Amino acid sequence: MSTPIAIIGTGMAGLSAGQALVEAGLDVRYFEKSRGSGGRMASKRSDTGSLDLGAQYFTARDRRFADVVQQWRARGWVGEWAPSLYQASEGQLSPSPDEQVRWVGVPRMSAISRALLGALPTEFSCRITEVFRGDQYWHLQDAEGKNHGPFSRVVVATPAPQASNLLAAAPKLASVAAGVAMEPTWSVGLSFERPLDTELDGCFVQGGALDWVARNRSKPGREPVPDSWVLHASSDWSRHNLDLPREAVTEALHGEFAELVGCAVPAPSFSVAHRWLYAKPTSSHQWGALGDADLGLYACGDWCSSGRVEGAWLSGQEVARRIISHLQ
Ligand code: FAD
Ligand code: NAI
Repeated sequence: MSTPIAIIGTGMAGLSAGQALVEAGLDVRYFEKSRGSGGRMASKRSDTGSLDLGAQYFTARDRRFADVVQQWRARGWVGEWAPSLYQASEGQLSPSPDEQVRWVGVPRMSAISRALLGALPTEFSCRITEVFRGDQYWHLQDAEGKNHGPFSRVVVATPAPQASNLLAAAPKLASVAAGVAMEPTWSVGLSFERPLDTELDGCFVQGGALDWVARNRSKPGREPVPDSWVLHASSDWSRHNLDLPREAVTEALHGEFAELVGCAVPAPSFSVAHRWLYAKPTSSHQWGALGDADLGLYACGDWCSSGRVEGAWLSGQEVARRIISHLQ
């Protein structure tokens, strides 16, 4: 068996890269700092069901990604979400239907990463702090001081601010990653015992603290009760309230939601708040991926492309393409 390739991060970019490398007959090993896979496509499980606190849905505009999404659909990993869409501007709520096809993981967003990762060897709860090269091979060090390796190549598939340190062995790549700014997003989940009296399933919000609101049960495969909602704060609000306690964030966004939705919104029976420190790159890039093929060190992620699920998938494909073509 050949020396494996290490992939740091099990978000969509790392999973996409790993799939393509395995299909090419290469051996991969994943390292993931969280307890589960999916990164920003993770779902929060609770007694009241699971909620997609990160990515809400995704679109497929690139033909290659659209083809793959159809395969996922055939396997039952994703379903089409056709919400009753609204928009709100300056406090004015109005229906905003469109023709866009939107996809979600079924029965939760994290179903996709679960399926893509399958049985591939993964070290969870393992935060990599250093990537270094010996005479011939790469090694990783984790936050507990444990060494992992040897590896023929390393793919860093984390958000840019976390990638720059891990790319220190290739200063040019590290400095490109260090130059990418990413915005935070506060995300709040609320569950109500009795369904809210509204037609709204999803709403794009402009002005104020909120940016997006979604009704969980309108997505395919979700439990109908309780009536759970996900609220996302705008980047500006999230940045200004980065260190606010979770309870205060929940209260503030619950209040904004009650004003926006135009029906009675009681106290929730369950609530959760999650802070995404590196939610989205401030701008799109067209790098596809970064890499030093001679060294064998690479980076991918949504920040190398569009800051969306599709961009992350495309970036993972690009990193795999570069590795495979360097081997030929
Ligand atoms: P990530 O998903 O961030 O994966 C990186 C992984 O690396 C994570 O699992 C992380 O734990 C791990 N990691 C980081 N550092 C280390 C380390 N040192 N050692 C080990 N592991 C490490 N996109 C859409 O298309 N549609 C949407 O509606 C949408 N909504 C969003 C809403 C929110 C609130 C957020 C946060 C994102 C949203 N996005 C949306 C963006 C989408 O989620 C991302 O573009 C995509 O999931 C990024 O995938 P990735 O693999 O590049 O990064
Ligand atoms: P999309 O085409 O549905 O949305 C793109 C943007 O177009 C929306 O943000 C919204 O402003 C506008 N829009 C689309 N349909 C609309 C409608 N019916 N009425 C009013 N406005 C509408 O999906 P795409 O391009 O795949 O984007 C993904 C979504 O993910 C976006 O909404 C984006 O803001 C969100 N996102 C959020 C992040 C976060 O951290 N909060 C991170 C990355 C993406």
